[in-house]
Amino acid sequence: MAHAYHLDDMNKLVSLAKRRGFVFPGSEIYGGFGNSWDYGPLGFLLKENIKAAWLRAMVQERDDVLPIETAIIMNPRVWVASGHVAGFTDPLVDCKNCKQRFRADQVSGGRCPECGGELTEPRQFNLMFKTYVGPVEEEAAIAYLRPETAQGMFVDFKAIVDTMRVKLPFGIAQIGKSFRNEITPGNFIFRTREFEQMEMEYFVRPGTDMEWFDYWVRQRYDWYVRYGIRTENLRLRQHEPSELAHYSRCTTDIEYRYPFGWGELEGIANRGDFDLRVHEEHSGEQLRYFDEETREHIRPYVIEPAAGATRSLLAFLLDAYDEERISEGGKEDVRTVLHLHPALAPYKAAVLPLLRNRPPLVDLAREVYTRLRRHFYVVYDETGAIGRRYRRQDEIGTPYCLTIDFQSLEDQTVTVRDRDTMEQVRVHIEELVPWLAGHVTG
Ligand code: GAP
Repeated sequence: MAHAYHLDDMNKLVSLAKRRGFVFPGSEIYGGFGNSWDYGPLGFLLKENIKAAWLRAMVQERDDVLPIETAIIMNPRVWVASGHVAGFTDPLVDCKNCKQRFRADQVSGGRCPECGGELTEPRQFNLMFKTYVGPVEEEAAIAYLRPETAQGMFVDFKAIVDTMRVKLPFGIAQIGKSFRNEITPGNFIFRTREFEQMEMEYFVRPGTDMEWFDYWVRQRYDWYVRYGIRTENLRLRQHEPSELAHYSRCTTDIEYRYPFGWGELEGIANRGDFDLRVHEEHSGEQLRYFDEETREHIRPYVIEPAAGATRSLLAFLLDAYDEERISEGGKEDVRTVLHLHPALAPYKAAVLPLLRNRPPLVDLAREVYTRLRRHFYVVYDETGAIGRRYRRQDEIGTPYCLTIDFQSLEDQTVTVRDRDTMEQVRVHIEELVPWLAGHVTG
């Protein structure tokens, strides 16, 4: 359902996310830990559904993209080759008075934004988390937690070409955790030190790269719209030459209108042959594609749509959030509702016996619940007035409430109430699985 509400107070969402089991502060009983966040039962399901929707569009519905999962801790030479050891840095300044640290590009005037103290000259701070592999903490054992999933695709390029009978253009996709020791994490789950990425490296013939770049910008924009983000809250922004990453010839960000302003949701980059070239140089392996027609060994160019799973979860929640004045069942009320796309909603349906103290209603409701949960995540709720139970489900974005009432006992139909329109239809119990499947797939 179209709604015009735009949430401009992040605290409302943080509070709902905590109250309803989407996102909890990390390590909370110990006072939290540097803007880390845990995904509760609802947040976990929502995130799984976002990742599934990404895989559906990027892999399942195509015949040119293959999924992989690579190690989080890779050979450290990978990060030397990629340029991360030398250049994955942010400029950092310290306050000489209160000792707080800031990103130099986020403070102006040379005085501390917290206490007004004098700031040091900026120095480069590498964002990669270091660790030691094996029992000895020595220089030779240093390794890094990956700061992006992308390098896994370049490092496994040869294995894919050798084993999977791919033809140019083709892509390799991966979803997984990445880690960056951000100087100033914040804005809830927008910028965290541990986050999840959904990235795809699409290998193309040199010369066709800009066409594919435009194609992927459009595809990715459409994906957010397909899963419910309103176009007025999305925009494309092309990077200025001065802000391009060292590997990029051209980058366009898809930005979302967050409560704190427009911010990056996803970046699409034309990486040219930068990555395959540097990994050839550092590994000594040829990273080429053999073209049967021209008998040439081509080093493909790469178009990379790089999205954040956790950052897009924030956008999907914000965009779905609505506070509405409604009239339902003859009663005026204000409801908080998440208009999540049904494919993303944590639960696809709630099963509600009209009254909890009538055994035939409860028995039939349990039977419907058992039947549905073999196919979908569904939730059972028998406590409180039916209106209150609807409100509870609205608030977590459950698209359908199935009420088992007295008529159900007679004709085996249930009331299906639509979250967005609040309209009701009756569906036969035998038809519920196909009916729901038709309404909740992406
Ligand atoms: N391989 C290219 C790459 O990693 P990026 O723009 O640095 O590009 C891609 O990251 C996406 O990953 C971003 O658009 C964002 O959605 C997500 N992301 C990056 N850093 C993040 C952080 N600290 N917290 C949450 N998400 C982050």
